[in-house]
Amino acid sequence: MGIARGYQRSQALAVAAELGIADLLGGGRRTVGDLATTTGTDEPSLYRLLRALASIGVFHEDDERRFSLTDMGELLRRDHPQSVDPAVRMFCADYQWRAWGELSHSVRTGGNAAVHTLGTDVWEHRRRNPQDGVVFDAAMRTMADSYADGVLAAHDFGTYDLVADIGGGTGTMLAAVLDAHPAVRGILAEQPEVLAGAPVVLDAAGVADRVTLVECDFFAEVPKGADAYVLLRVLHDWVDEDAARILRRVREAMDPSARVLIIDAVVGPPNEDPLTKFLDMMMLVSAGGRERTEAEWTALLEETGFRLESIVPAGPGRAVIDAVPAG
Ligand SMILES: C[S@@+](CC[C@H](N)C(=O)[O-])C[C@H]1O[C@@H](n2cnc3c(N)ncnc32)[C@H](O)[C@@H]1O
Repeated sequence: MGIARGYQRSQALAVAAELGIADLLGGGRRTVGDLATTTGTDEPSLYRLLRALASIGVFHEDDERRFSLTDMGELLRRDHPQSVDPAVRMFCADYQWRAWGELSHSVRTGGNAAVHTLGTDVWEHRRRNPQDGVVFDAAMRTMADSYADGVLAAHDFGTYDLVADIGGGTGTMLAAVLDAHPAVRGILAEQPEVLAGAPVVLDAAGVADRVTLVECDFFAEVPKGADAYVLLRVLHDWVDEDAARILRRVREAMDPSARVLIIDAVVGPPNEDPLTKFLDMMMLVSAGGRERTEAEWTALLEETGFRLESIVPAGPGRAVIDAVPAG
């Protein structure tokens, strides 16, 4: 029954995020009347939302209908360094909600539920609806930030002169790599509308002077000459045919001594790893791609001219998949 009701919790959380409740509680405990006035909401209904979220540990309710933040609720604050606010708003955005509502379409036909319901894929949807793109890019930033320590521990980037992050979002992971290794330079290759958000991220990290920004369509061409090509949460967005096209473009751009570092999930054994297996469902209905097993990664790499060297876990649901040109 808890599984059947799961959507109620995610929607309740999303509405609290949308209203910015956690930020309003940042200064301390507040009454529901005060919160309703500030947010322009219906007080009795807001109370019912907040007490429900307090019952599952997001907020704390006292005997006088005053609410405060729990440790979990702190993570919803937009100014928290590990804020989950953009991810909550991205996962529960209306277009994602609608795509998940059509999961049955994907399961019955193999087609992409988002395309079925939105009439366009999520990439085009976000281009046409920049406010959804802004939330998506912010979610990628906070999630990449939470990946950074694990990735840096799993792989030594200090051996490279030039690291290219392909489809690197607004540069959070590249900034972490360059911050950890002051002698390394970077290339951030992305779609122009996403790249526009990178300078502020790279400036804040103090690495902008070591990064070349390149507008790129990774199906057409990627920048040449890097020692390592990072593909962080890129290939899982695409079915094998498209993922292979991206890898071939990377292979064409690489010197024989360079390597590709795919940072993505590796699907775990039967009856385990719900994190990756539900992310895979997200790829099915939304992005249109898939998560892959070790055997599937190996096959994809071989098909595109690479040899898998190692898979090093880099945190929950993520690994550094290190490959070099074959032959
Ligand atoms: C799931 S996001 C991952 C972003 C970043 N690597 C991270 O993990 O934070 C996938 C990225 O691929 C980019 N992308 C999608 N299609 C692209 C294309 N044709 N050429 C270049 N980048 C593309 C998107 O803009 C997006 O930033």
